[in-house]
Amino acid sequence: MEEYSAIPNVKVQAVSDLMDKNLQHCKDRYNVPVLANDYHDVIKVDSIHAVHICLPNSLHFPACKEALEAGKHVLVEKPITLTSKEGNILVDLAAEKGLTLSVGHIYRFNNALAEVKRLISENFFGRVFLLNLTWTNLEPIFNDRDVIVDLAPHYFDIVNYMLDAWPAKITCVAKPYRQKENPEATYISCEMPNGAIAHAHLNWLSPKKVRSIELVERTGRRSSMRSVKRSRYTNLAIPTSSEWKGTTPSGPSCCISSSPSRTRRPRPGTPVPSA
Ligand SMILES: NC(=O)c1ccc[n+]([C@@H]2O[C@H](COP(=O)([O-])OP(=O)(O)OC[C@H]3O[C@@H](n4cnc5c(N)ncnc54)[C@H](O)[C@@H]3O)[C@@H](O)[C@H]2O)c1
Repeated sequence: MEEYSAIPNVKVQAVSDLMDKNLQHCKDRYNVPVLANDYHDVIKVDSIHAVHICLPNSLHFPACKEALEAGKHVLVEKPITLTSKEGNILVDLAAEKGLTLSVGHIYRFNNALAEVKRLISENFFGRVFLLNLTWTNLEPIFNDRDVIVDLAPHYFDIVNYMLDAWPAKITCVAKPYRQKENPEATYISCEMPNGAIAHAHLNWLSPKKVRSIELVERTGRRSSMRSVKRSRYTNLAIPTSSEWKGTTPSGPSCCISSSPSRTRRPRPGTPVPSA
């Protein structure tokens, strides 16, 4: 809501949430005219052009489908759906209706990642050997989601964005620890078509919050194995984006980082800060 309220020519016309206190917050702070407990009531509003779906993952497919069928453009949080079959149905439906269907792969819009992507495309580093992604934090037990479906969409999207390819081979180990069903920790290794390895370490168990991507690349076409030691090395501490002021790294090694602290959205009930 905070972000939308800052965009000119955008008016949030309706919000739905099961919790009344969240709706009250939207009314008090952002003066949203239509408030509903059920998301169907928002999709029904004729004057709405686009919807942002932030529902639990299992509701993404039915809510997106209903919104597209009602002629609305859709921004849906990741994962787009719980199965690729459902995801393809939505993509086809949006194309058929001429509507935009966008998924909240937020790291596409991270300034640090965009800069590294630019450097890769200009062959600044040389050939990519390794991409290591670590996304960890201590989270409560989730009964409605597993760590792969919840966090790996970011990983796969970043790998695709940075390396411009999908994995040729995927290996994965995942386990639940504090419960029986939903994996809470996983290691995913992907072999990319050019031989690079893209690895992800994702869990909700580590006491320290880490969001980092490490990229190891060859410095030049004629480099020998010794050059691995001199590889240009990029370590991104994400996800702040807007404040990062990119400078082009130079020298045999480089480090790009941004503050690991992120701007938190105000919680319902937070007083409006004075200007
Ligand atoms: N892009 C990112 O980095 C990022 C970060 C966090 C969460 N997410 C995604 O955002 C989505 C929401 O995540 P969350 O952690 O806020 O989940 P959550 O379960 O805490 O919140 C979901 C909200 O949906 C509401 N809701 C549930 N059923 C409803 C219904 N039938 N009608 C109306 N409202 C209903 C609930 O009241 C709740 O406020 C998930 O898909 C998650 O994967 C994305």
